[in-house]
Amino acid sequence: MRTQVAIIGAGPSGLLLGQLLHRAGIETIILEQRSKDYVLGRIRAGVLEQGTVELLDEAGCGSRMRQEGLVHEGIEIAFGGARHRIDLKALTGKTVLVYGQTEVTRDLMEARETAGAPIVYEALSARISDIETGHPRVRYRKDDAEYEIECDYVAGCDGFHGISRQSIPEQALRTYERVYPFGWLGILVDKPPLADELIYVNHPRGFALCSMRSATRSRYYLQCRLDEQVSDWSDERFWDELERRLDPEARKWLQRGPSIEKSIAPLRSFVAEPMRFGNLFLAGDAAHIVPPTGAKGLNLAASDVAYLSRALASRYRSSSTAELDAYPQRALARVWKAVRFSWWMTQMLHRFPEPSGFDERIQAAELEYLFSSKLAQAALAENYVGLPY
Ligand code: FAD
Ligand code: DHB
Repeated sequence: MRTQVAIIGAGPSGLLLGQLLHRAGIETIILEQRSKDYVLGRIRAGVLEQGTVELLDEAGCGSRMRQEGLVHEGIEIAFGGARHRIDLKALTGKTVLVYGQTEVTRDLMEARETAGAPIVYEALSARISDIETGHPRVRYRKDDAEYEIECDYVAGCDGFHGISRQSIPEQALRTYERVYPFGWLGILVDKPPLADELIYVNHPRGFALCSMRSATRSRYYLQCRLDEQVSDWSDERFWDELERRLDPEARKWLQRGPSIEKSIAPLRSFVAEPMRFGNLFLAGDAAHIVPPTGAKGLNLAASDVAYLSRALASRYRSSSTAELDAYPQRALARVWKAVRFSWWMTQMLHRFPEPSGFDERIQAAELEYLFSSKLAQAALAENYVGLPY
């Protein structure tokens, strides 16, 4: 088999890249190790920046999102028994859209099927070779048969645990990492959200987040210990603990119900530089991870893909590799700003094990400064709605 760009991974980055390249007249094959249903069953991100929304429109996949997505003009932060609103719209002129990653993925998969572009699910043991030549190869196994794709470029969109980053020699990569001493326990429930906007809670018992997927489906998260298992958390224990971390008004509106999904995610910041080796380009979680507090992971995957798709289109239009050569530097400049923001939100809103009195006072001062200063709120809002690209 031959294609122009072999894409490893059918998460949001791989699917969006495939769609943008298809519209630019560039051939791709997407390889995904899991089944379509498995990919669609993963409950992850929920908040889209305006830039991500516009990119999905550009990919021709925005119509359902525009109809069903919920426009949010602000978020709330709860601390010390009071709630404070950050007016995103007034501070930046921009809003965010609540539309689940599952729905984004479904729309992108449908667009690919409609376009008749190839996607191989359950493609196992993918291996990339000849990355430094003009003819990289990707081999994989499907239904006990071996296949080989020859291509011009490989796009590594296979997430944090994928093989793309691991195919790069260790000495050619520099990695930066911070692991946080807690995780997020998330629950999805078919009950209306307790408020119209997201509430980020800093409580002595730990962080909590009240989010949503639609007017009838809510998503809640609790900061939990890293040694805890999903099986330690019955629905009842989750709701009891969430209630303890909420203010009385929020508690009044909380509707409990049976969970339809429950999972624990560890929190980590990670960046691998540069996001390229030879003709292999990394995008999304394959190159970087942020803690979910700033709602940036999916949006960063989208901005990487915007830069990479434009660079590849330029390369096929003009034969010049200048845009492709600039990709790592352009993408990383934006990545590091989102890494900083996600780290800042995480340390401001979580309770760290064994904090010193100094740490506690600094955290309280940070929040009180934020609530009292329009300029501090504007800095948060500018990052939350997404920096330009
Ligand atoms: P992935 O979604 O991980 O996709 C990679 C794909 O590659 C997967 O389908 C995988 O099966 C496949 N793959 C892996 N290895 C191979 C292989 N060897 N061969 C073939 N295929 C392979 N982000 C936000 O922007 N906003 C949020 O509100 C938000 N909330 C989050 C909440 C939680 C609880 C979590 C866990 C994450 C959240 N994120 C959020 C982050 C966001 O979900 C990720 O950043 C996003 O999924 C990255 O997309 P991706 O396509 O790069 O990687
Ligand atoms: C969601 C996740 C986040 O990390 C966040 O900051 C906001 C919302 C969510 O899954 O709904």
